Amino acid sequence: MKKFMASEFNNLKNKQDLLILAIESSCDETAVSVVKNGREVLSNVIASQIDIHRRFGGVVPEIASRNHLLAISNLYEEALRQANISAEQLDAIAVTYGAGLMGALLVGVNFAKGLSYALKKPLIAVNHVHGHIASNYISHPDLQPPFLCLMVSGGHTAILKVSDYTKFKMLGSTVDDAVGEAFDKVARVLSLPYPGGPEIDKLAKKGENNIKFTVSNSLKSTLKFSFSGIKTAVINYVHNKTQKGESFSPADVARSFQESVTDELVGKVARAMELSKMSKVVVAGGVGANSMLQEKLKAAAEKIGGKAYFPELKYCTDNAAMIGSMAYYYIRKGVGRAELGLTARPTIDL
Ligand code: KG4
Ligand code: ZN
Repeated sequence: MKKFMASEFNNLKNKQDLLILAIESSCDETAVSVVKNGREVLSNVIASQIDIHRRFGGVVPEIASRNHLLAISNLYEEALRQANISAEQLDAIAVTYGAGLMGALLVGVNFAKGLSYALKKPLIAVNHVHGHIASNYISHPDLQPPFLCLMVSGGHTAILKVSDYTKFKMLGSTVDDAVGEAFDKVARVLSLPYPGGPEIDKLAKKGENNIKFTVSNSLKSTLKFSFSGIKTAVINYVHNKTQKGESFSPADVARSFQESVTDELVGKVARAMELSKMSKVVVAGGVGANSMLQEKLKAAAEKIGGKAYFPELKYCTDNAAMIGSMAYYYIRKGVGRAELGLTARPTIDL
């Protein structure tokens, strides 16, 4: 089996057209997609568990794994059906193997291993963060590295240098909370439903007055982020007002929080552009859907004659098409081949 897979993988590197079936189950979306040549999405099916986890105010890991298990076989059938291809036509099976929730990841990884074995197709292990970056290759057919990447999701906040499809360098990341996590916690204290990011985005549009919530100054001269301070400041503000029986405007809170956080993100990207002399910036991850972030970053990039790229909304949050896109470039560069011993990794290096 091993020998067969190794030679099969090498043959793929130079094959003209590549059809990849990709699986994503790192958090609360079960997703399967068929992607042709890294950029053409033939199918992209997702079973979101958001409604299931909403009543708990966040993702419950055991419930997530169980629901992945219930959904994955049907999604696989549906992805092939919508792509109008048979399993035999696939060239490889790709799967997110980290980072994410261990039990959730294991469902996708084990299903992918089963398929790889049964269909005798090479198995490709994809890093979830790389996948988020690749979502932009789908949305922007002409986009190619090198570029800077602002990675903003529920689990990550970082500025990366992407010098080639599989060459990534960390320029700065968060020292505490991920930005999406801060959005979700602020939303929770405002009694907004999970996931809170899109709710804050909506509510902020109605905000009129500025409340002074600032991002910590201690990392000012670096490309690192810290969002725990501002998150706590917002939570304290709301608790204080509530305890004193004073009224406050949730829309003003949402707007002021979002203004400061997006200023911080855009300010650091502008600094990274200046330092690296790169004028192309690509945004990846769920918080990339934020309307204020999009506006500010586009303006900042244009100001220096550059351009900011965002994935289409459906590829901002977790999906399997982005995993299929990344797997295509892994294959072309000769990396990512996994054995049947592949296991899930809750944390993973860049
Ligand atoms: O990338 P993603 O789907 O999952 C992870 O890999 O973490 O990101 C999810 C995060 C959540 O924290 C969610 O609240 C946030 O993205 N998010 C947003 C918006 N849409 C999703 N945050 C701010 N504004 C939005 N419009
Ligand atoms: Zn994600």
